[in-house]
Amino acid sequence: MQLIARTILLLGVGSGAALFSAVLATAGGPGDLTPRVPPERLQEAQSLHNPFTPSADLVAKGKKIYEGKAYCSACHGLEGAGGSSGGRISPPGSEPPTNFADAAWQAARTDGELFWILKHGSHGTDMAPYLPLYISEEDAWAVVIYLRTFGGT
Ligand code: HEC
Repeated sequence: MQLIARTILLLGVGSGAALFSAVLATAGGPGDLTPRVPPERLQEAQSLHNPFTPSADLVAKGKKIYEGKAYCSACHGLEGAGGSSGGRISPPGSEPPTNFADAAWQAARTDGELFWILKHGSHGTDMAPYLPLYISEEDAWAVVIYLRTFGGT
């Protein structure tokens, strides 16, 4: 009887650990659409609206910043699908950054959430805060507009 109980307990712990590692394997991975803004800040982030109307000039400006001074492309890749190193440097073996060219990802995020991440970074990842030290608010919105061009959207 005791042996059975112990076996059941072990099985329970085992499947819990398997589930946990499955969650770890996908969290932050390219196919993971869970918001990157922490839940308690999500409403605030989603209420931010791009004050600029997308235009060819702003796309060009965003591209210049993405590939130039902010060097987003080093981690996110020129096509937005992640660089050769996968971007994430720590912890070793972590999943590469989000694939910006994924239509499902594009649909899942508001402009405000992207801006919020640029301003505050993504805690626990290599995504650093960029505002106001590296880029201005206007630069950041131009980059958001540029991010929207990945995946042909
Ligand atoms: C040092 C590498 C690195 C650099 C440079 C970098 N990022 Fe990131 N970025 C990451 C990682 C790692 C994540 C976390 C991946 C995730 O959340 O799936 C991330 C997350 C993001 C997210 C949130 C993704 C989501 O799913 O909502 C956005 C938006 C983003 N980065 C945009 C940028 C932009 C724009 C720049 C340039 C201003 C930039 N990143 C520079 C590594 C980097």
